[in-house]
Amino acid sequence: MWKLTEVQQLTKRRVAGLMSGTSMDGIDVCICEIQTQPWQCHWLTAQTISYPESLRFSLMQTQGNVAQIAHWHRQIGEAFREALAKILADFPTELHLIGSHGQTIYHEHQKVTWQLGEVAFLAAAFGCPVVSDFRIHDVAVGGSGAPLVPYVDAQLFGYLHRPVLALNLGGIANFTLVADGQAVMALDCGPANMVLDELASLFSRGQMRLDRDGAWAAQGQVRQAWLDDLMAHPFLQQPPPKSAGREQFGGLFVQELMNHTNPGSPRSWYDLFATVTRFTAMAIFSHYERWIYPHQPITEVIVSGGGVHNPVLMRELTQLFHPIPVSTSTNYGIDPDSKEALAFAILASERIDYKPTNIPAVTGAKRPVLLGKITEL
Ligand SMILES: Nc1ncnc2c1ncn2[C@@H]1O[C@H](COP(=O)(O)OP(=O)(O)O)[C@@H](O)[C@H]1O
Ligand SMILES: [Mg+2]
Repeated sequence: MWKLTEVQQLTKRRVAGLMSGTSMDGIDVCICEIQTQPWQCHWLTAQTISYPESLRFSLMQTQGNVAQIAHWHRQIGEAFREALAKILADFPTELHLIGSHGQTIYHEHQKVTWQLGEVAFLAAAFGCPVVSDFRIHDVAVGGSGAPLVPYVDAQLFGYLHRPVLALNLGGIANFTLVADGQAVMALDCGPANMVLDELASLFSRGQMRLDRDGAWAAQGQVRQAWLDDLMAHPFLQQPPPKSAGREQFGGLFVQELMNHTNPGSPRSWYDLFATVTRFTAMAIFSHYERWIYPHQPITEVIVSGGGVHNPVLMRELTQLFHPIPVSTSTNYGIDPDSKEALAFAILASERIDYKPTNIPAVTGAKRPVLLGKITEL
């Protein structure tokens, strides 16, 4: 059993980070060792563990009554506990601290953001303090509660001493400009995998959850008229700070896209995959061009998130950013699939050291605050 006051004294901590993003593809678990002075973080191991299928299916419905939501809270908490138990079975170690992001079930810009997954189950099972509910602290001081990874991007890439864009391709695409060791600006840029995943599920009648390796997009042609329509989406015009989720680019958005494009033949489906993949890359690049480039041209794009496994998306990005190189975080010793889980391990460790980790310039908050509540049993 580790008490909070004991963990605060440790200058080296084994910390687990748990995260499930808007893709709801699984629970990313990462274990790292954090040294507090001088600050260093060593990635030790990570895995993605699937949600129980019935829970994922139920969550994808996105609507629930109070009883349903209460059960989700418990079930997600238990699923996170099982995910961490599984990784610890393969990688036995004593944990001093856990940071759990939970599963976002609702997010409304600057008004409310809600993550489920009761962490008392983690505290009970692993005998150490757990930090959770990171986002709402930023909302409480007028911020949007997202993105929160920029603080971590600065910790991880600030030492490069050249301006880089840390781009995460989860359900939503977001990037952080890291320059002079600081996170200068960060934005959600629109969908990364969310629309592609939804289309994959519709096209395959539920058999596939993703356009694996961009195989369908690779067989299609980009349709300029569809692309122009997508690029006219109001989210792209909004000035920062802004954040996106299933509310903007989830099922309803895809329904409208389908009504509009009406892909009948497999060929036109492939064209839709190709067009949406290009849209994803262009939305990212246009956010760079509009909001970053005028202030700070960059030297590299460092990509993480599940989208790194989609070669068509990566190729589109490489072509758009050329001659700026597009690489993956693997080049910097960070597993792209667990970067966000690692981020919440780091944010948890900072929280118990009383370090504010929201960046007001990024989230729109009135001031820096501590992120996360501490649960100790
Ligand atoms: N081999 C692959 N080919 C294409 N897309 C992939 C592949 N592997 C993962 N992805 C995409 O990455 C997504 C998961 O990325 P992740 O970073 O976990 O997102 P989130 O943070 O939203 O959960 C999947 O839903 C899928 O769209
Ligand atoms: Mg995920």
